[in-house]
Amino acid sequence: MGRSKRTSVAVIYNFPGEDEYEALRKKVKNGDVVSPTGDIKDLEGIATVQEEIDALVKGLQKEGFDARAMNIEDDFDRLFKCLTDPRPDVVFNLVEFFNNDPLLEDRVAALYDLLGIPYTGAPPLTLAICQRKALAKQILKAFRIPTPRYKLVKKKPVPKLTGLRYPLIVKPAWEDASAGVTDQAVVEDRAQLEKRVRMILAEYGQPALVEEFIDGRELGVSVIGNKNPKVLPIEEMDFSDLPPDRKAIITFESKWNPLSEIFHMGKLVCPAKLPRSIQRRVKKVALQTYQVLGCRDYARIDIRLDKNDNPFVLEVNPNPDLTEGVAFMASAEAAGLSFSEVLQAIVEEAIKRTPPPSPKASSNNADAPSEA
Ligand SMILES: Nc1ncnc2c1ncn2[C@@H]1O[C@H](COP(=O)(O)OP(=O)(O)O)[C@@H](O)[C@H]1O
Ligand SMILES: [Mg+2]
Repeated sequence: MGRSKRTSVAVIYNFPGEDEYEALRKKVKNGDVVSPTGDIKDLEGIATVQEEIDALVKGLQKEGFDARAMNIEDDFDRLFKCLTDPRPDVVFNLVEFFNNDPLLEDRVAALYDLLGIPYTGAPPLTLAICQRKALAKQILKAFRIPTPRYKLVKKKPVPKLTGLRYPLIVKPAWEDASAGVTDQAVVEDRAQLEKRVRMILAEYGQPALVEEFIDGRELGVSVIGNKNPKVLPIEEMDFSDLPPDRKAIITFESKWNPLSEIFHMGKLVCPAKLPRSIQRRVKKVALQTYQVLGCRDYARIDIRLDKNDNPFVLEVNPNPDLTEGVAFMASAEAAGLSFSEVLQAIVEEAIKRTPPPSPKASSNNADAPSEA
């Protein structure tokens, strides 16, 4: 079906400051850094934020959309202009924080709602809940969806953690992307725990989430759609190449620092090799999670299996990363969906939510064709 006018899509993201991968690339070019793998290509293959956004815009254009990237750079006036001058038909929402504050993420989506502009991904309430890991876990618990037992520590001193069994993991309660997660986040005793909690409270200025450590396989479960949401093939982070003195977790370093050896050691496997029965359980848990937390269009749910293959939800990522070939997109590809097809499917879901023109607007519109 041809569109009379191409649908305009504002791809809105927030990226103030310099791109670290861009800076790294310059260093590689000048020969200032050495790759820990010995192969310099491993450092060249890293995509900058700008390149990832460009790929997404190109994908949308390929599907016939009039897509444009807009970096709001922590500037409200710029954000407002992106939404009003000219007004896009739909927003592809990639904003994850504002003024360096991840708790402002939901307010940006709320602004689209106030302006009546449909946008991709989760609504403000879901973004707000999932950004607060302990709150999301509380809701999962209420629905009997398994998530590791935990305590939220808001201030010193660390209370007695009755009912929690070591080893524990300590994470900042409101972060993403493994921020604050290092090998030292996994603690074996009270002394290590107190040290780590103090560090989180002081350096992150937010509560510390203390959680039972689930020693087992790590899965990324991607879900797409609304009316009949579908679970895509499950992805696994394979830690088997890690040296024995390293913790089998996704640390900040292993996720983001290509100059560290550990970055090159984890392998993403998709689809994960899992017995059918376990796959079914994991998918069921992921779907329930998606639904009770009000996820929309697409999401990725981090799950770990314990030694007996019982799934536990670690956290929920509404509006997950859409980099081609990894995470959500790797799962979509394994399901036979191309990069641009996925983008199109997500935008089409958002377009369905276009609010009807308000009566006030149409009655004020002198040029509107008269009613039949
Ligand atoms: N309870 C846990 N048990 C085992 N590993 C965990 C646990 N919580 C977090 N991790 C490890 O830390 C990583 C980051 O934690 P996660 O809760 O997913 O936060 P983020 O939002 O930073 O991705 C996970 O991918 C996992 O490897
Ligand atoms: Mg995670």
